[in-house]
Amino acid sequence: MLWCAIGAVTVITLLAAGIHLNRFPVSSVTEPRPATSPTDDVLAPWPSPEPRPDPQAAPAPPVPSFDKGARSIDDPMSIWVVADKLRPLNPPTFVPTDLVIAKVPYSANATLRTEAATAMETMFAAAKAEGAGGMMLQNAYRSYDAQKSLYAGHVSRLGQAQADIASARAGHSEHQTGLSADIMPDSQACGVQECFATTAQGSWLAANAWRYGYHLRYPDGKTSITGFAFEPWHYRYIGVDLATQMHNLGIITLEEFFGLPPAPTYEG
Ligand code: DAL
Ligand code: ZN
Repeated sequence: MLWCAIGAVTVITLLAAGIHLNRFPVSSVTEPRPATSPTDDVLAPWPSPEPRPDPQAAPAPPVPSFDKGARSIDDPMSIWVVADKLRPLNPPTFVPTDLVIAKVPYSANATLRTEAATAMETMFAAAKAEGAGGMMLQNAYRSYDAQKSLYAGHVSRLGQAQADIASARAGHSEHQTGLSADIMPDSQACGVQECFATTAQGSWLAANAWRYGYHLRYPDGKTSITGFAFEPWHYRYIGVDLATQMHNLGIITLEEFFGLPPAPTYEG
């Protein structure tokens, strides 16, 4: 009798459980639906799915976390200073205060500002370690007077129009900031010539200089913005943060990045 009673209770319990489970779709077993009240498990409709982004809609604008105003583009001691045909250095005879000779091979000079020199040393070592070969500097810092005679030499050889797309007038050259350098292979092959772009060193720099805070200042096809012909050998130190941001955005001139006017010619 006792066994009959236990059996009956078990059967009733199992039937009740079965009936309860059968009231839910199969998916509810693996993906429990949240109940909004103790009694909504049967009658309430399934909640609508979360709205999904429309694949045709324009992408959301990126969060502007990079502060373009973090450093000055006017102060000649700022590593973000921009000099071009419309933006002379101020004062035009500016001399940086922390020039050193970079510990790298060079032909004419390897004088750079301290931070730029250290980054250059690291970059040359990395290029060699990554199989791009040895590099050396052809030129780096130039004073106002040195730039003046270099420019005059270009004018006498090429005429003013050609000189003006190859060499900056004194007071307008980023070489005078101590942040720019002309780089060549240690063999000096294609030194300060367009074919430098096709050397192992030139192509490594084009792809990797940003990792060391260096920027190809006069890229191919941007003469109407920078004012100068393609100079695959001329690299400008701007710091890793800015170089990385420009690399990530695919913006290849400082003028475009900072929203400055194109500077194809001098004023007046
Ligand atoms: N060759 C670059 C433009 C300079 O003279 O600064
Ligand atoms: Zn240069």
